[in-house]
Amino acid sequence: MEQHTNYEFGRMIRMDWEKGLLLPHAQVRESVKTLGQLQNVFLNEDARQAMNPDIVVYRVQAWCPVPEGTEGGQFWGSSVIEPGQVDSEYFMTHGHFHLKPDRTEYYATITGEGALILMDEARKTWMEPMSSGSLHFVPPKVAHRVANTGKEPLRVVACWPSDAGHDYDAIRKFGFSARLLNVHGKATLVENGN
Ligand SMILES: [Fe+2]
Repeated sequence: MEQHTNYEFGRMIRMDWEKGLLLPHAQVRESVKTLGQLQNVFLNEDARQAMNPDIVVYRVQAWCPVPEGTEGGQFWGSSVIEPGQVDSEYFMTHGHFHLKPDRTEYYATITGEGALILMDEARKTWMEPMSSGSLHFVPPKVAHRVANTGKEPLRVVACWPSDAGHDYDAIRKFGFSARLLNVHGKATLVENGN
C-alpha cells in the first residue's frame, strides 16, 4: 500500500499529539538528561550535587529525516521537561546557540507551563511564557532554553534547519546572563550577580 512506501522512504512518521511525543522510528533519536549530567548548569551547584543524580530533568526526541548538516532540510523535535527546582531555579534544558548563528527555530507548547528563555549575542536575556498552544519564533543569533515553571511535565515541540547545529560551549562557559527563579511563588528572571 502507499503508506508502506511512505514509511520506507522516511517521509512520514507519527506523533502522539496529546503527549507531544514522536512514536518510535529508526530515524528518531532519543536522549535523556539527568541532574547528574547537568554539572554547572544551575546557579546553586551545591544544591544540585546534594540531589539524586538519577532524577530526570528532560528528555529529547529528534526526527532527522535528512543527514545532519543538510542545507535546506529541517528537523523536528519533541522535549519533555519535568517539574522541579534546584534550590529556587526551575528545571530547564542546557540551552544553546546554533553553530550557524543566523539559523532560526520554532517552538510550540503542547501541555504544561513554562518559559522560553532567550539571550542575544549582546547577552541581553528575556523570556516568553509557554502554555498550551503558545507558538514561539527564535530569531537569528539568539540562544534558547526551556524551563518548566509548573507542576506537570512541560511538553514542547520544535522545528529547526538541519544545518543549524548546536553550540553548547558558549552556554557551558558563560551561561545565560539571567536565571529563571521561583521568587515567592512567581517565575522571575533574575540577572546574574544580583
Ligand atoms: Fe535550537
